[in-house]
Amino acid sequence: MSLLTILEFPDPRLRTKAAPVTVFDAQLKQFVADMFETMYAANGVGLAATQVDVHQRVLVIDMSDERNQPLVLINAEIVEKDGAQVYQEGCLSFPGLYADVTRALKVKVKAQDADGKEFFYEAEGPQAVAVQHEMDHLAGKVFVDYLSPLKRSLLLKRLEKQRKQAASA
Ligand code: NI
Repeated sequence: MSLLTILEFPDPRLRTKAAPVTVFDAQLKQFVADMFETMYAANGVGLAATQVDVHQRVLVIDMSDERNQPLVLINAEIVEKDGAQVYQEGCLSFPGLYADVTRALKVKVKAQDADGKEFFYEAEGPQAVAVQHEMDHLAGKVFVDYLSPLKRSLLLKRLEKQRKQAASA
């Protein structure tokens, strides 16, 4: 296994729209394993292929404290959504940045596993947030896109400041 490099905002490659996965082979399984390893090493709860500069519709999530509930969704599509929730989101492509985002409370997705087998997956609350956040990445969207221009610019200034401090430390 190997750790992948996570792209950080405002890297323009984060705006790439991912293509559907069509080949379910050993290479795909290795990539999924590498995504989990990379997400766990970064203490993340979700990672989309876009964030590691692979533009195929693969995302991984594990919201559990024990880090033992890995979920991989390939070619995920939302087939139902319901309700609304506000949740404070973070993102491995925006280290140290958090913001409230409003999303659907419940989602039902149709997806494939690493063998190409189709299944339905239902999520609610924080898990539904993660699914929607990671699916956005695959469409070239990031969570700060949902903020007002003022709030977004304040947050991005803070991110810039953190980077400068980290660079001079
Ligand atoms: Ni993210």
